[in-house]
Amino acid sequence: VVGAGTMGAGIAQIAALGGFETYLHDPFPEALERGIAGVRAGLAKGAERKRWSIEDAAAAEKRLRSAPALEDLAPCELVIEASPEDLGLKRELFGNLSQICGPDVVLATNTSSLPVTAMATAAARPGNVVGMHFFNPAPLMQLLEVVAGADSSEEALATALAVGEQMGKRVINAKDGPGFLANRCARPFGLEALKLLSEGVADHTTIDRIVRMGGGFRMGPFELMDLVGIDVGFEVSKSFWEQSFHEPRWRPSMIQARMVQAGRFGRKAGRGYYEYEQGKHHREDDPEQPAMREQDAVIVIEGDGQVAEELWDLAADIGYDPRRMAELGDDDAALYIDAQIGRLVEDQVSVPPGASVCVLCAEGSLSELGLLFDHAIGFHVLPPLSDTGVVELTHSGQDDVASQRVEHFFRTLGKHVEWVGDGPGLVFGRIICQLVNEACFAIQEGVGSPEDIDTALRLGFNYPRGPLEWADLIGIEHVVATLDALYEELHEERYRVAPLLRRMIAEGRLGRWAGRGFFTYPEDEY
Ligand SMILES: NC(=O)c1ccc[n+]([C@@H]2O[C@H](COP(=O)([O-])OP(=O)(O)OC[C@H]3O[C@@H](n4cnc5c(N)ncnc54)[C@H](O)[C@@H]3O)[C@@H](O)[C@H]2O)c1
Repeated sequence: VVGAGTMGAGIAQIAALGGFETYLHDPFPEALERGIAGVRAGLAKGAERKRWSIEDAAAAEKRLRSAPALEDLAPCELVIEASPEDLGLKRELFGNLSQICGPDVVLATNTSSLPVTAMATAAARPGNVVGMHFFNPAPLMQLLEVVAGADSSEEALATALAVGEQMGKRVINAKDGPGFLANRCARPFGLEALKLLSEGVADHTTIDRIVRMGGGFRMGPFELMDLVGIDVGFEVSKSFWEQSFHEPRWRPSMIQARMVQAGRFGRKAGRGYYEYEQGKHHREDDPEQPAMREQDAVIVIEGDGQVAEELWDLAADIGYDPRRMAELGDDDAALYIDAQIGRLVEDQVSVPPGASVCVLCAEGSLSELGLLFDHAIGFHVLPPLSDTGVVELTHSGQDDVASQRVEHFFRTLGKHVEWVGDGPGLVFGRIICQLVNEACFAIQEGVGSPEDIDTALRLGFNYPRGPLEWADLIGIEHVVATLDALYEELHEERYRVAPLLRRMIAEGRLGRWAGRGFFTYPEDEY
Protein backbone atom coordinates (compact mmCIF):
# COMPACT_ATOMS: atom_id res chain seq x y z
CA VAL A 1 0.00 0.00 0.00
CA VAL A 2 1.46 3.35 -1.05
CA GLY A 3 0.58 6.37 1.09
CA ALA A 4 0.00 5.83 4.80
CA GLY A 5 -2.70 8.46 5.33
CA THR A 6 -6.38 8.05 6.18
CA MET A 7 -7.13 5.63 3.35
CA GLY A 8 -3.75 3.90 3.05
CA ALA A 9 -3.60 2.91 6.73
CA GLY A 10 -7.18 1.60 6.58
CA ILE A 11 -6.45 -0.42 3.44
CA ALA A 12 -3.24 -1.86 4.95
CA GLN A 13 -5.25 -2.96 7.99
CA ILE A 14 -7.80 -4.95 5.99
CA ALA A 15 -5.09 -6.32 3.69
CA ALA A 16 -3.13 -7.71 6.64
CA LEU A 17 -6.31 -9.04 8.23
CA GLY A 18 -7.25 -10.64 4.93
CA GLY A 19 -4.09 -12.75 5.13
CA PHE A 20 -1.81 -10.79 2.77
CA GLU A 21 1.84 -10.01 3.46
CA THR A 22 1.38 -6.25 3.56
CA TYR A 23 3.96 -3.53 3.01
CA LEU A 24 2.97 0.03 3.92
CA HIS A 25 4.98 2.78 2.26
CA ASP A 26 5.09 6.54 2.78
CA PRO A 27 8.03 8.80 1.83
CA PHE A 28 7.50 10.88 4.98
CA PRO A 29 8.85 8.99 8.05
CA GLU A 30 6.39 10.61 10.48
CA ALA A 31 3.46 9.80 8.17
CA LEU A 32 4.66 6.21 7.87
CA GLU A 33 5.06 5.87 11.62
CA ARG A 34 1.61 7.36 12.20
CA GLY A 35 0.14 5.02 9.58
CA ILE A 36 1.72 1.88 11.11
CA ALA A 37 0.61 2.97 14.59
CA GLY A 38 -2.88 3.58 13.19
CA VAL A 39 -3.07 0.07 11.75
CA ARG A 40 -1.93 -1.45 15.06
CA ALA A 41 -4.46 0.61 16.99
CA GLY A 42 -7.21 -0.40 14.53
CA LEU A 43 -6.34 -4.08 14.87
CA ALA A 44 -6.35 -3.86 18.67
CA LYS A 45 -9.63 -1.94 18.76
CA GLY A 46 -11.34 -4.46 16.49
CA ALA A 47 -10.18 -7.31 18.74
CA GLU A 48 -11.43 -5.43 21.80
CA ARG A 49 -14.82 -5.03 20.14
CA LYS A 50 -14.80 -8.71 19.20
CA ARG A 51 -14.90 -8.03 15.47
CA TRP A 52 -12.00 -10.50 15.20
CA SER A 53 -9.97 -12.49 17.71
CA ILE A 54 -6.83 -11.31 19.54
CA GLU A 55 -4.94 -14.08 17.72
CA ASP A 56 -6.13 -12.81 14.32
CA ALA A 57 -5.06 -9.27 15.23
CA ALA A 58 -1.63 -10.53 16.30
CA ALA A 59 -1.22 -12.58 13.11
CA ALA A 60 -2.24 -9.58 10.98
CA GLU A 61 0.28 -7.38 12.79
CA LYS A 62 3.01 -9.92 11.94
CA ARG A 63 2.07 -9.69 8.27
CA LEU A 64 2.43 -5.90 8.30
CA ARG A 65 5.76 -4.39 7.28
CA SER A 66 6.93 -0.81 7.27
CA ALA A 67 8.41 0.16 3.88
CA PRO A 68 10.32 3.47 4.09
CA ALA A 69 11.58 3.23 0.48
CA LEU A 70 9.47 2.59 -2.62
CA GLU A 71 12.07 -0.05 -3.59
CA ASP A 72 10.98 -2.07 -0.55
CA LEU A 73 7.83 -2.91 -2.52
CA ALA A 74 9.81 -5.02 -5.05
CA PRO A 75 8.34 -8.38 -3.92
CA CYS A 76 4.71 -7.18 -4.20
CA GLU A 77 2.25 -8.73 -6.67
CA LEU A 78 -0.38 -6.04 -6.12
CA VAL A 79 0.22 -2.40 -5.16
CA ILE A 80 -2.69 -0.24 -4.01
CA GLU A 81 -1.89 3.43 -4.29
CA ALA A 82 -3.51 5.86 -1.79
CA SER A 83 -1.25 8.88 -2.23
CA PRO A 84 -2.53 12.49 -2.51
CA GLU A 85 -5.08 13.22 -5.24
CA ASP A 86 -2.62 14.52 -7.84
CA LEU A 87 -2.44 12.98 -11.30
CA GLY A 88 1.23 13.92 -11.90
CA LEU A 89 2.30 12.36 -8.62
CA LYS A 90 0.30 9.18 -9.21
CA ARG A 91 1.64 8.79 -12.75
CA GLU A 92 5.19 9.14 -11.47
CA LEU A 93 4.53 6.48 -8.84
CA PHE A 94 3.12 4.06 -11.43
CA GLY A 95 6.10 4.62 -13.69
CA ASN A 96 8.52 3.92 -10.83
CA LEU A 97 6.57 0.94 -9.52
CA SER A 98 6.62 -0.61 -12.98
CA GLN A 99 10.43 -0.58 -12.76
CA ILE A 100 10.67 -1.72 -9.15
CA CYS A 101 8.14 -4.57 -9.10
CA GLY A 102 7.98 -7.55 -11.45
CA PRO A 103 6.42 -7.27 -14.93
CA ASP A 104 3.19 -8.91 -13.76
CA VAL A 105 2.53 -6.56 -10.84
CA VAL A 106 -1.04 -5.27 -10.74
CA LEU A 107 -1.14 -1.55 -9.96
CA ALA A 108 -4.35 -0.28 -8.39
CA THR A 109 -5.33 3.28 -7.58
CA ASN A 110 -7.70 4.36 -4.83
CA THR A 111 -8.33 7.72 -6.52
CA SER A 112 -11.86 9.06 -6.06
CA SER A 113 -11.94 11.45 -9.00
CA LEU A 114 -8.98 11.08 -11.38
CA PRO A 115 -9.31 8.95 -14.53
CA VAL A 116 -7.78 5.49 -14.06
CA THR A 117 -7.03 5.46 -17.79
CA ALA A 118 -4.89 8.60 -17.50
CA MET A 119 -2.77 6.92 -14.82
CA ALA A 120 -2.43 3.63 -16.68
CA THR A 121 -0.43 5.07 -19.56
CA ALA A 122 2.39 5.91 -17.13
CA ALA A 123 2.84 2.23 -16.26
CA ALA A 124 4.98 -0.14 -18.30
CA ARG A 125 1.87 -2.27 -18.92
CA PRO A 126 -1.31 -0.21 -18.89
CA GLY A 127 -3.34 -3.45 -18.94
CA ASN A 128 -2.12 -4.14 -15.40
CA VAL A 129 -3.61 -0.92 -14.00
CA VAL A 130 -7.07 -0.86 -12.38
CA GLY A 131 -9.00 1.21 -9.87
CA MET A 132 -9.69 -0.14 -6.39
CA HIS A 133 -11.92 2.50 -4.89
CA PHE A 134 -12.43 2.03 -1.16
CA PHE A 135 -14.75 4.14 0.96
CA ASN A 136 -13.86 5.99 4.13
CA PRO A 137 -13.34 4.51 6.71
CA ALA A 138 -11.90 1.63 4.68
CA PRO A 139 -11.98 -0.97 7.49
CA LEU A 140 -15.67 -0.36 8.19
CA MET A 141 -17.27 0.37 4.83
CA GLN A 142 -18.30 -2.84 3.11
CA LEU A 143 -18.20 -1.54 -0.45
CA LEU A 144 -15.29 -1.71 -2.88
CA GLU A 145 -15.53 -0.54 -6.50
CA VAL A 146 -13.17 -2.24 -8.92
CA VAL A 147 -12.80 0.19 -11.79
CA ALA A 148 -11.87 -0.83 -15.32
CA GLY A 149 -9.79 1.69 -17.24
CA ALA A 150 -9.89 1.69 -21.04
CA ASP A 151 -7.14 -0.93 -21.26
CA SER A 152 -7.42 -2.84 -17.96
CA SER A 153 -6.98 -6.57 -18.59
CA GLU A 154 -9.46 -9.20 -17.42
CA GLU A 155 -6.68 -10.80 -15.34
CA ALA A 156 -5.84 -7.56 -13.51
CA LEU A 157 -9.54 -6.93 -12.81
CA ALA A 158 -9.98 -10.49 -11.58
CA THR A 159 -7.01 -10.09 -9.23
CA ALA A 160 -8.45 -6.88 -7.79
CA LEU A 161 -11.82 -8.56 -7.31
CA ALA A 162 -10.37 -11.63 -5.62
CA VAL A 163 -8.18 -9.58 -3.30
CA GLY A 164 -11.10 -7.27 -2.43
CA GLU A 165 -13.29 -10.23 -1.57
CA GLN A 166 -10.56 -11.74 0.57
CA MET A 167 -10.42 -8.42 2.41
CA GLY A 168 -14.08 -9.02 3.23
CA LYS A 169 -15.52 -6.44 0.84
CA ARG A 170 -18.62 -6.57 -1.30
CA VAL A 171 -17.03 -5.85 -4.67
CA ILE A 172 -18.87 -4.19 -7.52
CA ASN A 173 -17.62 -3.70 -11.06
CA ALA A 174 -17.47 -0.17 -12.44
CA LYS A 175 -16.08 1.53 -15.49
CA ASP A 176 -13.80 4.54 -15.66
CA GLY A 177 -15.60 7.90 -15.93
CA PRO A 178 -16.56 10.79 -13.64
CA GLY A 179 -17.22 9.43 -10.14
CA PHE A 180 -17.07 5.82 -11.42
CA LEU A 181 -20.30 4.18 -10.29
CA ALA A 182 -21.19 4.96 -6.67
CA ASN A 183 -20.29 8.65 -6.55
CA ARG A 184 -21.83 9.24 -9.94
CA CYS A 185 -25.13 7.57 -9.15
CA ALA A 186 -25.36 9.50 -5.88
CA ARG A 187 -24.97 12.91 -7.57
CA PRO A 188 -28.67 13.85 -7.78
CA PHE A 189 -29.16 13.46 -4.02
CA GLY A 190 -27.32 16.74 -3.45
CA LEU A 191 -27.71 18.44 -6.83
CA GLU A 192 -31.49 18.05 -7.05
CA ALA A 193 -31.82 19.23 -3.45
CA LEU A 194 -29.84 22.34 -4.39
CA LYS A 195 -32.09 22.85 -7.41
CA LEU A 196 -35.18 22.65 -5.21
CA LEU A 197 -33.63 25.12 -2.80
CA SER A 198 -32.69 27.53 -5.60
CA GLU A 199 -36.24 27.41 -6.97
CA GLY A 200 -37.63 28.11 -3.51
CA VAL A 201 -39.71 24.92 -3.46
CA ALA A 202 -38.69 24.41 0.18
CA ASP A 203 -35.96 25.54 2.58
CA HIS A 204 -33.03 23.27 3.40
CA THR A 205 -34.40 22.20 6.79
CA THR A 206 -37.71 21.13 5.23
CA ILE A 207 -36.00 19.29 2.37
CA ASP A 208 -33.80 17.39 4.85
CA ARG A 209 -36.80 16.51 7.03
CA ILE A 210 -38.82 15.28 4.04
CA VAL A 211 -35.95 13.12 2.83
CA ARG A 212 -35.47 11.60 6.30
CA MET A 213 -39.14 11.02 6.96
CA GLY A 214 -40.16 10.24 3.40
CA GLY A 215 -37.47 7.76 2.58
CA GLY A 216 -35.85 6.63 5.81
CA PHE A 217 -32.53 8.29 4.95
CA ARG A 218 -30.40 8.85 8.05
CA MET A 219 -29.36 12.28 6.84
CA GLY A 220 -30.87 14.82 4.50
CA PRO A 221 -28.82 16.15 1.57
CA PHE A 222 -27.88 19.42 3.27
CA GLU A 223 -26.74 17.68 6.44
CA LEU A 224 -24.63 15.42 4.24
CA MET A 225 -23.15 18.32 2.26
CA ASP A 226 -22.19 19.98 5.57
CA LEU A 227 -20.56 16.76 6.74
CA VAL A 228 -18.56 16.17 3.56
CA GLY A 229 -17.53 19.84 3.35
CA ILE A 230 -19.18 22.28 0.96
CA ASP A 231 -15.81 23.32 -0.49
CA VAL A 232 -14.94 19.66 -1.18
CA GLY A 233 -18.40 19.04 -2.67
CA PHE A 234 -18.10 22.10 -4.91
CA GLU A 235 -14.74 20.89 -6.25
CA VAL A 236 -16.27 17.49 -7.00
CA SER A 237 -19.20 19.19 -8.77
CA LYS A 238 -16.86 21.26 -10.91
CA SER A 239 -14.81 18.19 -11.77
CA PHE A 240 -17.91 16.28 -12.97
CA TRP A 241 -19.00 19.28 -15.01
CA GLU A 242 -15.61 19.69 -16.66
CA GLN A 243 -14.88 16.00 -17.25
CA SER A 244 -18.25 15.54 -18.94
CA PHE A 245 -17.95 18.63 -21.18
CA HIS A 246 -20.87 20.25 -19.36
CA GLU A 247 -23.45 17.53 -18.93
CA PRO A 248 -26.55 19.50 -17.76
CA ARG A 249 -27.43 16.97 -15.02
CA TRP A 250 -24.06 17.66 -13.42
CA ARG A 251 -24.13 21.42 -13.53
CA PRO A 252 -22.89 22.82 -10.21
CA SER A 253 -25.20 25.13 -8.27
CA MET A 254 -24.56 28.82 -7.68
CA ILE A 255 -25.59 28.18 -4.09
CA GLN A 256 -22.48 26.01 -3.63
CA ALA A 257 -20.28 28.80 -5.01
CA ARG A 258 -21.88 31.37 -2.72
CA MET A 259 -21.49 29.16 0.35
CA VAL A 260 -17.80 28.67 -0.44
CA GLN A 261 -17.30 32.43 -0.98
CA ALA A 262 -18.89 33.04 2.40
CA GLY A 263 -16.56 30.56 4.10
CA ARG A 264 -19.53 28.39 5.07
CA PHE A 265 -17.68 25.14 4.45
CA GLY A 266 -19.90 23.00 6.63
CA ARG A 267 -19.38 21.17 9.89
CA LYS A 268 -15.59 21.56 9.95
CA ALA A 269 -15.95 25.39 9.74
CA GLY A 270 -18.67 25.56 12.39
CA ARG A 271 -21.20 26.69 9.83
CA GLY A 272 -22.57 25.60 6.51
CA TYR A 273 -26.27 25.17 5.82
CA TYR A 274 -26.54 24.67 9.59
CA GLU A 275 -24.71 26.20 12.52
CA TYR A 276 -22.50 23.88 14.60
CA GLU A 277 -21.45 24.09 18.18
CA GLN A 278 -18.50 21.83 19.00
CA GLY A 279 -18.99 20.03 15.71
CA LYS A 280 -22.65 19.22 16.35
CA HIS A 281 -25.75 20.90 15.06
CA HIS A 282 -28.93 21.05 16.97
CA ARG A 283 -31.43 19.10 14.95
CA GLU A 284 -34.96 19.24 16.15
CA ASP A 285 -36.50 15.80 16.47
CA ASP A 286 -38.59 14.89 13.45
CA PRO A 287 -42.27 15.17 14.29
CA GLU A 288 -44.01 12.02 15.46
CA GLN A 289 -46.20 10.44 12.84
CA PRO A 290 -49.84 10.85 13.83
CA ALA A 291 -51.65 7.72 14.96
CA MET A 292 -53.97 6.14 12.39
CA ARG A 293 -57.59 6.82 13.20
CA GLU A 294 -60.76 4.94 12.36
CA GLN A 295 -63.00 6.75 9.88
CA ASP A 296 -66.25 5.94 8.18
CA ALA A 297 -66.59 8.50 5.39
CA VAL A 298 -67.03 7.87 1.69
CA ILE A 299 -64.15 9.19 -0.42
CA VAL A 300 -63.44 8.99 -4.13
CA ILE A 301 -60.05 7.73 -5.33
CA GLU A 302 -59.41 7.75 -9.07
CA GLY A 303 -56.36 6.38 -10.87
CA ASP A 304 -54.78 3.00 -11.36
CA GLY A 305 -51.11 3.45 -10.51
CA GLN A 306 -49.36 2.28 -7.37
CA VAL A 307 -50.20 5.42 -5.41
CA ALA A 308 -53.92 5.10 -6.11
CA GLU A 309 -53.90 1.42 -5.22
CA GLU A 310 -51.99 1.83 -2.01
CA LEU A 311 -54.07 4.81 -0.91
CA TRP A 312 -57.18 2.80 -1.58
CA ASP A 313 -55.97 -0.11 0.58
CA LEU A 314 -54.70 2.11 3.40
CA ALA A 315 -57.93 4.11 3.48
CA ALA A 316 -60.11 0.99 3.40
CA ASP A 317 -58.03 -0.53 6.23
CA ILE A 318 -59.02 2.24 8.62
CA GLY A 319 -62.68 2.27 7.71
CA TYR A 320 -63.00 4.75 4.85
CA ASP A 321 -65.31 3.67 2.07
CA PRO A 322 -63.21 4.38 -1.05
CA ARG A 323 -65.06 4.41 -4.36
CA ARG A 324 -64.45 5.19 -7.98
CA MET A 325 -66.44 8.14 -9.26
CA ALA A 326 -68.56 5.74 -11.34
CA GLU A 327 -69.49 3.84 -8.19
CA LEU A 328 -70.52 6.84 -6.10
CA GLY A 329 -74.17 6.85 -7.10
CA ASP A 330 -76.21 9.30 -5.03
CA ASP A 331 -73.81 9.27 -2.07
CA ASP A 332 -71.90 12.34 -0.97
CA ALA A 333 -68.10 12.47 -0.75
CA ALA A 334 -66.20 15.34 0.83
CA LEU A 335 -62.89 14.35 -0.76
CA TYR A 336 -61.95 13.47 -4.31
CA ILE A 337 -58.39 12.17 -4.76
CA ASP A 338 -57.05 12.05 -8.27
CA ALA A 339 -53.93 9.88 -8.51
CA GLN A 340 -54.14 9.27 -12.24
CA ILE A 341 -50.96 8.87 -14.27
CA GLY A 342 -51.12 8.83 -18.07
CA ARG A 343 -54.06 11.19 -18.39
CA LEU A 344 -55.09 12.70 -21.72
CA VAL A 345 -55.33 16.47 -21.76
CA GLU A 346 -58.82 16.30 -23.14
CA ASP A 347 -59.96 13.95 -20.35
CA GLN A 348 -63.09 15.27 -18.74
CA VAL A 349 -62.94 15.00 -14.99
CA SER A 350 -66.13 15.04 -12.98
CA VAL A 351 -66.00 15.67 -9.29
CA PRO A 352 -68.68 15.06 -6.63
CA PRO A 353 -70.54 18.29 -5.82
CA GLY A 354 -69.03 20.04 -2.81
CA ALA A 355 -65.99 17.75 -2.68
CA SER A 356 -62.48 19.08 -2.13
CA VAL A 357 -60.03 17.91 -4.76
CA CYS A 358 -56.55 16.56 -4.15
CA VAL A 359 -54.47 15.77 -7.23
CA LEU A 360 -51.22 13.76 -7.52
CA CYS A 361 -48.50 16.09 -8.82
CA ALA A 362 -46.53 13.50 -10.78
CA GLU A 363 -47.24 14.11 -14.44
CA GLY A 364 -47.49 17.82 -13.85
CA SER A 365 -47.30 20.55 -11.27
CA LEU A 366 -50.44 21.73 -9.53
CA SER A 367 -50.41 24.83 -11.76
CA GLU A 368 -50.71 22.53 -14.79
CA LEU A 369 -53.00 19.80 -13.45
CA GLY A 370 -55.03 22.22 -11.35
CA LEU A 371 -56.43 23.67 -14.57
CA LEU A 372 -58.68 20.62 -14.65
CA PHE A 373 -60.22 21.47 -11.28
CA ASP A 374 -61.25 24.44 -9.16
CA HIS A 375 -59.26 25.01 -5.99
CA ALA A 376 -57.38 21.72 -6.04
CA ILE A 377 -54.68 20.83 -3.53
CA GLY A 378 -51.64 19.06 -4.93
CA PHE A 379 -50.02 16.09 -3.21
CA HIS A 380 -47.14 13.76 -3.85
CA VAL A 381 -45.92 10.64 -2.16
CA LEU A 382 -43.82 7.72 -3.34
CA PRO A 383 -44.72 4.07 -2.99
CA PRO A 384 -44.40 2.02 -0.90
CA LEU A 385 -46.74 4.13 1.25
CA SER A 386 -46.35 1.78 4.18
CA ASP A 387 -42.71 2.91 4.47
CA THR A 388 -43.16 6.62 4.14
CA GLY A 389 -43.82 8.91 7.08
CA VAL A 390 -44.67 12.04 5.15
CA VAL A 391 -47.02 13.24 2.43
CA GLU A 392 -46.16 16.50 0.68
CA LEU A 393 -48.88 18.99 -0.14
CA THR A 394 -49.00 22.16 -2.18
CA HIS A 395 -51.70 24.73 -2.91
CA SER A 396 -52.10 27.56 -5.35
CA GLY A 397 -54.62 29.73 -3.53
CA GLN A 398 -55.86 29.66 0.00
CA ASP A 399 -58.77 27.27 0.30
CA ASP A 400 -58.89 26.55 4.02
CA VAL A 401 -61.65 23.97 3.84
CA ALA A 402 -59.84 21.95 1.16
CA SER A 403 -56.50 22.26 2.98
CA GLN A 404 -58.04 21.05 6.22
CA ARG A 405 -59.85 18.13 4.62
CA VAL A 406 -56.77 16.96 2.77
CA GLU A 407 -54.51 17.34 5.81
CA HIS A 408 -57.05 15.49 7.91
CA PHE A 409 -57.25 12.64 5.42
CA PHE A 410 -53.51 12.01 5.31
CA ARG A 411 -53.17 12.41 9.08
CA THR A 412 -55.82 9.76 9.63
CA LEU A 413 -53.64 7.47 7.47
CA GLY A 414 -50.84 8.09 9.98
CA LYS A 415 -48.79 10.43 7.79
CA HIS A 416 -47.11 13.67 8.73
CA VAL A 417 -47.84 16.39 6.14
CA GLU A 418 -45.47 19.03 4.81
CA TRP A 419 -46.54 22.02 2.70
CA VAL A 420 -44.05 22.82 -0.06
CA GLY A 421 -43.89 24.87 -3.27
CA ASP A 422 -45.35 23.58 -6.51
CA GLY A 423 -43.62 21.40 -9.14
CA PRO A 424 -43.85 17.90 -10.63
CA GLY A 425 -42.86 15.32 -7.99
CA LEU A 426 -42.69 18.07 -5.35
CA VAL A 427 -39.55 17.48 -3.23
CA PHE A 428 -38.86 13.83 -2.52
CA GLY A 429 -40.33 12.50 -5.76
CA ARG A 430 -38.08 14.79 -7.71
CA ILE A 431 -34.91 13.71 -5.92
CA ILE A 432 -35.69 9.99 -6.25
CA CYS A 433 -36.75 10.22 -9.90
CA GLN A 434 -33.50 11.98 -10.75
CA LEU A 435 -31.55 9.28 -8.87
CA VAL A 436 -33.33 6.66 -10.98
CA ASN A 437 -32.64 8.63 -14.17
CA GLU A 438 -28.93 8.96 -13.37
CA ALA A 439 -28.71 5.23 -12.65
CA CYS A 440 -30.30 4.52 -16.05
CA PHE A 441 -27.80 6.69 -17.90
CA ALA A 442 -25.03 4.81 -16.03
CA ILE A 443 -26.49 1.43 -17.06
CA GLN A 444 -26.80 2.52 -20.68
CA GLU A 445 -23.23 3.75 -20.73
CA GLY A 446 -22.02 0.39 -19.39
CA VAL A 447 -20.77 1.90 -16.11
CA GLY A 448 -22.48 -0.73 -13.99
CA SER A 449 -25.29 -3.25 -13.66
CA PRO A 450 -28.61 -2.53 -11.88
CA GLU A 451 -27.63 -4.90 -9.04
CA ASP A 452 -24.26 -3.20 -8.56
CA ILE A 453 -25.80 0.28 -8.62
CA ASP A 454 -28.28 -0.60 -5.89
CA THR A 455 -25.56 -2.31 -3.85
CA ALA A 456 -23.26 0.70 -4.27
CA LEU A 457 -25.79 3.17 -2.93
CA ARG A 458 -26.94 0.96 -0.08
CA LEU A 459 -23.47 0.03 1.13
CA GLY A 460 -21.51 3.11 0.06
CA PHE A 461 -24.01 5.74 1.18
CA ASN A 462 -26.39 3.93 3.52
CA TYR A 463 -29.43 4.41 1.28
CA PRO A 464 -32.41 2.54 2.73
CA ARG A 465 -32.87 0.87 -0.66
CA GLY A 466 -31.29 1.13 -4.09
CA PRO A 467 -32.80 3.57 -6.62
CA LEU A 468 -33.69 0.80 -9.06
CA GLU A 469 -35.43 -1.38 -6.51
CA TRP A 470 -37.27 1.82 -5.61
CA ALA A 471 -38.18 2.54 -9.24
CA ASP A 472 -39.69 -0.94 -9.51
CA LEU A 473 -41.79 -0.25 -6.41
CA ILE A 474 -42.90 3.18 -7.64
CA GLY A 475 -43.69 1.97 -11.15
CA ILE A 476 -41.68 3.02 -14.19
CA GLU A 477 -44.57 5.02 -15.66
CA HIS A 478 -44.77 7.21 -12.57
CA VAL A 479 -41.02 7.91 -12.75
CA VAL A 480 -41.14 8.77 -16.45
CA ALA A 481 -44.27 10.92 -16.06
CA THR A 482 -42.53 12.98 -13.37
CA LEU A 483 -39.33 13.45 -15.38
CA ASP A 484 -41.23 14.33 -18.55
CA ALA A 485 -43.26 16.91 -16.64
CA LEU A 486 -40.11 18.46 -15.16
CA TYR A 487 -38.57 18.60 -18.63
CA GLU A 488 -41.64 20.20 -20.17
CA GLU A 489 -42.41 22.64 -17.42
CA LEU A 490 -38.86 23.76 -16.58
CA HIS A 491 -37.43 23.45 -20.10
CA GLU A 492 -34.20 22.00 -18.76
CA GLU A 493 -32.06 19.33 -20.38
CA ARG A 494 -31.11 17.89 -17.00
CA TYR A 495 -34.56 16.27 -16.82
CA ARG A 496 -34.44 14.49 -20.18
CA VAL A 497 -35.49 10.90 -19.64
CA ALA A 498 -32.89 8.18 -20.07
CA PRO A 499 -33.89 6.20 -23.20
CA LEU A 500 -33.66 2.99 -21.17
CA LEU A 501 -36.72 4.05 -19.15
CA ARG A 502 -38.82 4.53 -22.28
CA ARG A 503 -37.65 1.21 -23.65
CA MET A 504 -38.75 -0.47 -20.43
CA ILE A 505 -42.24 0.96 -20.82
CA ALA A 506 -42.40 -0.21 -24.43
CA GLU A 507 -41.34 -3.70 -23.32
CA GLY A 508 -43.86 -3.86 -20.50
CA ARG A 509 -41.15 -3.85 -17.84
CA LEU A 510 -43.27 -1.57 -15.72
CA GLY A 511 -42.10 -2.46 -12.23
CA ARG A 512 -42.73 -4.87 -9.46
CA TRP A 513 -46.50 -5.02 -9.90
CA ALA A 514 -45.98 -6.16 -13.51
CA GLY A 515 -43.58 -8.90 -12.40
CA ARG A 516 -40.60 -7.24 -14.05
CA GLY A 517 -38.87 -3.93 -14.18
CA PHE A 518 -35.16 -3.59 -13.50
CA PHE A 519 -35.46 -6.90 -11.71
CA THR A 520 -37.86 -9.80 -12.08
CA TYR A 521 -40.18 -10.91 -9.32
CA PRO A 522 -41.77 -14.25 -8.65
CA GLU A 523 -45.54 -14.10 -8.96
CA ASP A 524 -46.25 -14.33 -5.24
CA GLU A 525 -44.07 -11.30 -4.50
CA TYR A 526 -45.88 -8.54 -6.31
N1 LIG B 1 -10.41 10.38 2.34
C1 LIG B 1 -11.42 9.83 1.67
O1 LIG B 1 -12.59 9.90 2.08
C2 LIG B 1 -11.15 9.06 0.40
C3 LIG B 1 -12.06 8.10 -0.03
C4 LIG B 1 -11.80 7.37 -1.18
C5 LIG B 1 -10.63 7.62 -1.89
N2 LIG B 1 -9.76 8.57 -1.46
C6 LIG B 1 -8.53 8.77 -2.25
O2 LIG B 1 -7.44 8.15 -1.56
C7 LIG B 1 -6.23 8.85 -1.80
C8 LIG B 1 -5.60 9.23 -0.48
O3 LIG B 1 -6.49 10.00 0.28
P1 LIG B 1 -6.35 10.18 1.84
O4 LIG B 1 -7.62 10.80 2.31
O5 LIG B 1 -5.90 8.93 2.49
O6 LIG B 1 -5.18 11.28 1.92
P2 LIG B 1 -4.17 11.59 3.11
O7 LIG B 1 -3.69 12.97 2.90
O8 LIG B 1 -4.76 11.22 4.43
O9 LIG B 1 -2.97 10.58 2.85
C9 LIG B 1 -2.06 10.70 1.78
C10 LIG B 1 -0.72 10.10 2.20
O10 LIG B 1 0.13 10.07 1.07
C11 LIG B 1 1.43 10.42 1.51
N3 LIG B 1 2.23 10.90 0.38
C12 LIG B 1 2.56 12.18 0.06
N4 LIG B 1 3.36 12.18 -1.03
C13 LIG B 1 3.53 10.88 -1.40
C14 LIG B 1 4.25 10.24 -2.43
N5 LIG B 1 4.97 10.93 -3.31
N6 LIG B 1 4.21 8.90 -2.49
C15 LIG B 1 3.50 8.19 -1.61
N7 LIG B 1 2.79 8.74 -0.60
C16 LIG B 1 2.82 10.08 -0.50
C17 LIG B 1 1.21 11.44 2.57
O11 LIG B 1 2.36 11.54 3.43
C18 LIG B 1 -0.02 10.89 3.28
O12 LIG B 1 0.34 10.04 4.34
C19 LIG B 1 -6.59 10.01 -2.71
O13 LIG B 1 -6.37 9.65 -4.03
C20 LIG B 1 -8.09 10.19 -2.44
O14 LIG B 1 -8.76 10.75 -3.55
C21 LIG B 1 -9.98 9.28 -0.33
